[in-house]
Amino acid sequence: MPEKNMHRYGYKGKEFYFENVPVKKVAAEVGTPFYLYSVNTFLDHYHKLAKAFSSIPTLICFSMKANSNLTILKSLVNQGAGLDIVSGGELYRAKKVGVDPQKIVFASVGKTVPEIEEAIRSKILMFNVESIQELETINEVAGRLKVRQKVAIRLNPDVKPDTHHYITTGSKQNKFGLEITTAYRLFMQSYRFPHLQLAGIHIHIGSQITEPKPFKEAVQKCLDFIDSVSYGGGRIEYLNIGGGLGIIYSKEKPQTAEQFARAILPLFKKRAVKLILEPGRFISGNSGILVAKVIYEKKTKTKSFLIVDAAMNDLIRPAFYSAYHEILPVMKEKEGGPKTRMDIVGPICESGDFLAKDRKLPSLKTGDLIAVMSCGAYGFVMSSNYNSRPRCPEVVVSGNRFFVARRRETMEDVLSCERIVKEVV
Ligand code: LLP
Repeated sequence: MPEKNMHRYGYKGKEFYFENVPVKKVAAEVGTPFYLYSVNTFLDHYHKLAKAFSSIPTLICFSMKANSNLTILKSLVNQGAGLDIVSGGELYRAKKVGVDPQKIVFASVGKTVPEIEEAIRSKILMFNVESIQELETINEVAGRLKVRQKVAIRLNPDVKPDTHHYITTGSKQNKFGLEITTAYRLFMQSYRFPHLQLAGIHIHIGSQITEPKPFKEAVQKCLDFIDSVSYGGGRIEYLNIGGGLGIIYSKEKPQTAEQFARAILPLFKKRAVKLILEPGRFISGNSGILVAKVIYEKKTKTKSFLIVDAAMNDLIRPAFYSAYHEILPVMKEKEGGPKTRMDIVGPICESGDFLAKDRKLPSLKTGDLIAVMSCGAYGFVMSSNYNSRPRCPEVVVSGNRFFVARRRETMEDVLSCERIVKEVV
């Protein structure tokens, strides 16, 4: 990916299809809104990356924060993928899909003792450690459980890729990772952590990065670091270069898996270090869409709005990051018909509740369906019940079949953790 021809969706005649399933048919069966995933597109992207890096030992840990649907995870795991997790909850899901624990890496700046304990008991491959205190804590827990746990130290390589400031993570201003000098000292003082094996280093420089340059720069810094540690008598077995590969939302021309590999692999020449990748968006972003139905058209003296039944609680990216998602009508009008400029908004009581702004779209009326494109990453996983809106279903397509992988929430589900506290009312 992400060459356009890799995508298993598009119009057949006037109708929008996901793999070989008409989107309209899914809408008729499950109602709207819903997320729709093409299982084979996820797998295509995974295999592209795996193939591009097949010349050196590489573990691809899908960053499940991007999409943690159990069916999607299981299909990736069945193809050999590992998982990058960031919480006890993600560990729970990872175990549910039966991933080999030796293919799990655990990141996050604030792992708690119960999370660390559960992960060690589950025999995960390693923790990506973000602070000295965390290193000490994992050392203590590992000692108590009588194991020697592998860890990687997350370095802050201080590179600044060109992406949204909310999703850059490798510069000195961010909360992530340790400075190179501090990390070096830790490797030299590894005797302070008898229950740990300081086996690797980790970086993640940001997300939606379209060019190889910042990756190359950061990886080179890591390799220099590995060299200095080995001069000092240490040995680093793993280099985890995180995720961050960008995809096409609009007119981006992101690096392909091959271009990325071509930039990175030569740096690894004659080195025994094992590579770990943590792609999230690259595998999932263009593998899913959000389908919504038009409730009303509204024209004021200054603007046109299309009010649809999906909202910021279903997809927060436009509100949160001003993210662009392409909007396509599920049934195409004839080419060259009139188009109007409009905002596509949800029913929630906030001005930030929009899916797209100022888009030229053909005339769409009540009951028509739209597809919000590139929603497979950070879509459903960031959804909420704001405005007491039940979260929508996740539907998976494979070939000419589709299945509800997560049903629509009912209001009973939404209220299931709540009670009226009689003592105070
Ligand atoms: N590894 C680590 C340590 C990460 O923090 C992340 C993402 C990834 C891997 C996966 O990154 P990816 O390959 O997906 O770029 N919610 C935002 C994105 C936040 C990314 C957070 N970390 C969005 O909707 O754009």
